[in-house]
Amino acid sequence: MATSVSLFLFLAPPMIKNKASLSIATTMGFLLLGAYFWIPDTHLQAQTFTPNYDESKVPQYTLPDPLRFTNGNVVATSEAWHQKRRQEILQLFESQVYGKTPSAAITVTFQLKSKNPNAFQGKATRKEIAIQVSSQQRVLTMDLLIYLPNDRPGPYRTFLGLNFGGNHSVTTEKDLSISNRWMRNKEDHGYINHRATEHSRGIYSSRWPVESIIQRNFAVATIYYGDIDPDYHDGFQDGVHPLFYEPGQSKPNHDQWGSLGAWAWGLSRAMDYFQIDTDIDSDKVIVLGHSRLGKTALWAAAQDTRFAIAISNNSGCGGAALSRRRFGETVQRINRSFPHWFNTNFKQFNNREDTLPIDQHMLIALIAPRPVLVSSAEEDRWADPRGELLSLQEADAVYRLLGTDGTGTTTVPSKDRPYFSTLSYHIRPGKHDVTLQDWNAFMNFSEHHLKP
Ligand code: GCU
Repeated sequence: MATSVSLFLFLAPPMIKNKASLSIATTMGFLLLGAYFWIPDTHLQAQTFTPNYDESKVPQYTLPDPLRFTNGNVVATSEAWHQKRRQEILQLFESQVYGKTPSAAITVTFQLKSKNPNAFQGKATRKEIAIQVSSQQRVLTMDLLIYLPNDRPGPYRTFLGLNFGGNHSVTTEKDLSISNRWMRNKEDHGYINHRATEHSRGIYSSRWPVESIIQRNFAVATIYYGDIDPDYHDGFQDGVHPLFYEPGQSKPNHDQWGSLGAWAWGLSRAMDYFQIDTDIDSDKVIVLGHSRLGKTALWAAAQDTRFAIAISNNSGCGGAALSRRRFGETVQRINRSFPHWFNTNFKQFNNREDTLPIDQHMLIALIAPRPVLVSSAEEDRWADPRGELLSLQEADAVYRLLGTDGTGTTTVPSKDRPYFSTLSYHIRPGKHDVTLQDWNAFMNFSEHHLKP
């Protein structure tokens, strides 16, 4: 099956500038691994959870081999990987973890809402694009915010990631309107009654060092993740899911997408736009994200091969960290705290990680041979920094089969040593966050792999 997306570009004053059509091949297979019905267990949800932070208590485990087909045969050539094994693994992540993206036809339109060539005292050009997606069921708008460097002509290498607090929260610029969408409450950050207030302007700007990014001649683009699907469990009534409901359907099927899948889908719609914006070098887009949005970035890159590089920051459980280690957050814990993130089938692996047909090293392998940087923070034990590094190392064999240097080393990289192999790892002291130090690593890595 394939999803057909029609693209139309509207510029203000409204006129059709360009029209293209794109077929996104999301080949979907059906894997019948046994029907499973998840019943929310409120009694168990109330039980307290004590994470394991003791390396000696990590259980023994055997990882599924990415280089063996489901039938046990060895994947010996890159052709066998690309033609068959990659598809097998992708289908397992779709059906058992993040959920399949539905295949109904939708229309995507783009409208340039504003353009300011003098952002950041003339250092950048700022654009706001309304990405509108519509099906017979409903219409949804996502606002894409882009900063382009003014110093040199484009097209630019571009960082793309979702943000947690609305586009106005990534920048201190005063003339960007405050998002009026649903927000997670965080009063000290200016999110009150599920709405953003003026106080939230620029509240996450330390996580988006726009001036430093454009200074190095990268463009940077972001969408508020709640534009795609608000991050609370409402049974998938708002956000993008209902656009795809078949007649009579009121929630995703057990194997269909949850919120992480929807957010990843939103990143691909931004990529659709990049393909018709001549300021953006759409062959050099780096998809990245922090925490739940780091899980999202990896899943987006795994599905959509148009992304040139993937970077996950502190992505942890369901992201870069190996689930079988059960260090910090576990599958059961994440499914209970955030029942809407993954698909319903994933709940059958609560406390049964060893029965997973995949583990997270295979998510990274799906991105091969494209470069991946996994970024951790030493104090962020909840996200299991060691489990994130091990995932990279376990994906190495696939990367080498495909002719890259993989992790390029068998030794653990030191904090200060630049580390530019195709699979790279970055760790810094400190807590769960995105810092300028992280961004410097992201930019060094991306500069190395994507020459302008
Ligand atoms: C929680 C969750 C993590 C997630 C994080 C975040 O801590 O347990 O899985 O990565 O939120 O997104 O901030």
